[in-house]
Amino acid sequence: MDVYEVISRRRDVRAEFTGAAIDDEVLRRVLSAAHAAPSVGMTQPWDFVVVRDPDTRARFHRHVHDERAHFAAGLTGERATAFDRIKIDGILESTLSVVVTYDPDRGSPAVLGRHAIADAGLYSVCLAIQNLWLAATAEGLGVGWVSFYQEDHLRSLLHIPASVRPVAWLCLGPVERLQEVPDLERHGWRSRIPVDQVIHHERYTRGPA
Ligand SMILES: Cc1cc2nc3c(=O)[nH]c(=O)nc-3n(C[C@H](O)[C@H](O)[C@H](O)COP(=O)(O)O)c2cc1C
Repeated sequence: MDVYEVISRRRDVRAEFTGAAIDDEVLRRVLSAAHAAPSVGMTQPWDFVVVRDPDTRARFHRHVHDERAHFAAGLTGERATAFDRIKIDGILESTLSVVVTYDPDRGSPAVLGRHAIADAGLYSVCLAIQNLWLAATAEGLGVGWVSFYQEDHLRSLLHIPASVRPVAWLCLGPVERLQEVPDLERHGWRSRIPVDQVIHHERYTRGPA
């Protein structure tokens, strides 16, 4: 697959995980791709915690479903009905999970390029996540990003220090297939915005809602 094909095939996966094993070499290639990401001041502020333990995953899954209920309680009418249909994770069905963290102290205090924009460290972690996602897609694996959690819950579950931020819980594994249309679009939650609506020339004009 060329890079554009991988980008268009990539999907956020919840329902299609098979639970089949991932070859150790493949997992290493995917994590090495994540680790090859660009980073502010070359800080490489990420770590990757591979979670296989069914008990840890079950505990996290319960927390995610409490958070899902919390979000659902704030919805009414058509939004509530649409959200009811949407599966938000494949924590139990996927082969394993990778939790990606951000350590703002790595390479500090003189972080080249972060003096004015503290978030540049977080941006770097997100690029590592995107590399992981694309590499997994190229390997025929699915990835599902889960963000329905309280950071402190995940910190205590995985013994992450207070100064380190958990950025993503990623479900990973072989899939039956990758959907062609994103789940949220198929379930009528939101659609892809036409690219011309988000490209502006010479000055910023407000994009779509
Ligand atoms: C920061 C971030 C957090 C996300 N959190 C969740 C989540 O908790 N549950 C979920 O089902 N999808 C989550 N997603 C996936 C998005 O819903 C998905 O990327 C979007 O609907 C577009 O679909 P696609 O990735 O298949 O193109 C998240 C994606 C990002 C980038």
